[in-house]
Amino acid sequence: MKKGSFITFEGNEGCGKTTISSRIYKQLVEEGYDVMQTREPGGIEIAEKIRELILDPAHTAMDARTEALLYAAARRQHLVEKVIPALEKGTIVLCDRFIDSSLAYQGVARGLGIDEIYEMNQFAIADTMPDATLLLRVTPEQGLQRIASRQHLDRLDQESEDFHHLVAKGYDEVAARYPERITVIDANQDVDTVYANTYKKVKEVIDHV
Ligand code: TMP
Repeated sequence: MKKGSFITFEGNEGCGKTTISSRIYKQLVEEGYDVMQTREPGGIEIAEKIRELILDPAHTAMDARTEALLYAAARRQHLVEKVIPALEKGTIVLCDRFIDSSLAYQGVARGLGIDEIYEMNQFAIADTMPDATLLLRVTPEQGLQRIASRQHLDRLDQESEDFHHLVAKGYDEVAARYPERITVIDANQDVDTVYANTYKKVKEVIDHV
């Protein structure tokens, strides 16, 4: 039986979720919580290999449904091998990206449909949903500006500006569908403010489970 809290971080490229979730992880460790930080796609060997396959800039021929299935496959393995056992032990799991990424990127930006992608993911997750999701909302322009200086841009980073606008629109649709689970944080602000707002929400969740 699940005893820990499952908290996910979402947002467009360059929203700062890894910076924020890493800071929250360190703070919670200092406070003595049993906490784990992980990410999707990846987090364990098999899923990291699937990640490489999906994000390789050379794989321009990848079909959108193939992409959606591979994300779901990586999600399944990561859940079974790492997330569910940790939750059963009572660990707080902080995960960068989960099903909402598939809903926004594959469902909306790739045009496969939110309902279709949700259904397809049910086979992979079998009802394991986050207790809370923090959506770090940036304008696509600001997000892309933040990642412009990165040395390595993966296949999805390299998508058109229109694609990243669709991702942002997708996240807004997903946030409107799940208002109890998803908290939208304005991530166009300075990093300390974004951190403080996100940390406050995370504490509310873990202290009330
Ligand atoms: P990251 O750069 O945040 O580590 O995520 C890798 C990329 O994969 C990012 O562009 C978002 C994308 N992605 C999807 O398109 N669908 C998904 O289900 C997940 C988990 C990530």
